[in-house]
Amino acid sequence: MTRAPWSLKRRLVVGIVALVAVVSIIIGAVSVLSLRGYLLGQLDVEVNLATERSVRALTQRPEVSPPPGIGNAQAGGTLGVVVAADRIATPQYFDKQARLRTLTNAQQQALIQIPDDATHHSVDLAGDLGSYRVVHVQLTDSIGLIVGLPQSGVDSASGQLFLTIAGVSLAALVITALAGTAVVRVALRPLGRVVGTARRVAELPLATGEVALAERVPDVDTDPRTEVGQVGAALNLMLDHVGEALAVRQASESKVRRFVADASHELRTPLASIRGYSELTRMSGRELPEDISHALSRIESESIRMTALVEELLLLARLDAGTELRHDEVDVSRLLADAVADAHAAGPEHIWHLELPETPITVTGDQGRLHQAVANLLTNARVHTPAGTTVTVAARTANSHAIITVADDGPGIDPELLPSLFERFVRGDSSRSRAAGSTGLGLAIVRAIVERHGGTLDVESQPGATRFELRLPRA
Ligand SMILES: Nc1ncnc2c1ncn2[C@@H]1O[C@H](COP(=O)(O)OP(=O)(O)OP(=O)(O)O)[C@@H](O)[C@H]1O
Ligand SMILES: [Mg+2]
Repeated sequence: MTRAPWSLKRRLVVGIVALVAVVSIIIGAVSVLSLRGYLLGQLDVEVNLATERSVRALTQRPEVSPPPGIGNAQAGGTLGVVVAADRIATPQYFDKQARLRTLTNAQQQALIQIPDDATHHSVDLAGDLGSYRVVHVQLTDSIGLIVGLPQSGVDSASGQLFLTIAGVSLAALVITALAGTAVVRVALRPLGRVVGTARRVAELPLATGEVALAERVPDVDTDPRTEVGQVGAALNLMLDHVGEALAVRQASESKVRRFVADASHELRTPLASIRGYSELTRMSGRELPEDISHALSRIESESIRMTALVEELLLLARLDAGTELRHDEVDVSRLLADAVADAHAAGPEHIWHLELPETPITVTGDQGRLHQAVANLLTNARVHTPAGTTVTVAARTANSHAIITVADDGPGIDPELLPSLFERFVRGDSSRSRAAGSTGLGLAIVRAIVERHGGTLDVESQPGATRFELRLPRA
């Protein structure tokens, strides 16, 4: 699993806080180091003065003041030892209370390590003494002198400064984090509004029909001088284009629809005359050659088929165009009983079952259209299955819906056909369908009618079990 990406807000706040932390560390380190360097420089001057005094005391009156490496008039805590033959000859010193004390072995060891280069060294003497700033000078070939002053003042001053800077920096980091969060939140608010607009547009159903794309990013968020403004302006421009494109699409769609509707309408009259004339000729009772009477009967049957096709096209075009449906109180039980009775009459070789609940089911809708939807399903169950097939028509209610099912135990629908079954002109390839003069518009009409009623149409099919389910919102 990949780690969730950081939000822009989080990245900005963390970035600012990290920056402030780095700057604080740099300022703190430079301050502490330069203060320490300055104080050590001053201490070194004092160590030099103390060394001069010690040398003077040692060379002029070595016997007067024990221990001999210190001499008089030295500050408390001054350390001064004589080194002879690489050992400390006089390991005594005065502590801060001016008591005479002796260096421990470890302290002597630490002191003797200091090179006799007459430069200043810091050394940790531990015990009562702590850290010292010392210098080792060689007086003669065999005698040296180590003089030192406590470095604790320097250490505590720089330590204090370090603590102060650390405390202030920490406070600054907390304030930066809080203030940064608030500032970033305010700064990102316009972006949130742009996102809101995009999201509302995304929720609009843009795929079909008349779309009113009124949603726009508010003017305050479209100022091209700001980054968010550029995004907002670009989004608005895009919405303008999309809106125009949708309007154009809608216009061309309705043009096509109107054309289909007009064409179907116009075709009705000539088709009716073709049919009428062929019927008339057939019924004239005159003897006609075999081939001519066959041709005439073909003309008549094809014109009947074409009339049905034209009627279906006209109906679909009208449903698409959204012509008003009637709002009748439709008794579903009654409607199914009639439809099954018709189907029975048309297909007496099929076995028809009707299963209805005790209480009548009603929906609001267009009685004629709903009847047609059910009739199309029943016709399919009759036409696309062999004689002897059992067809079961049932109705029930579930919550706010009335559910009508038409099931048969026929050969089932070709699985390749299923995904696009409700599209126009989709039909099976069986010779039966062709012979039955099928056009592939029946289920498209059922779906259009059901959807215009706010319902849904579903199908499940395998050999021996085909089931159409039609869900309609109840009255
Ligand atoms: N109950 C069913 N059993 C088997 N196949 C079916 C069944 N219902 C539909 N079909 C298949 O689905 C196809 C599409 O059906 P649809 O009703 O849309 O068109 P059609 O029946 O071929 O033509 P039309 O209904 O326009 O005269 C049919 O051609 C048929 O192959
Ligand atoms: Mg059909």
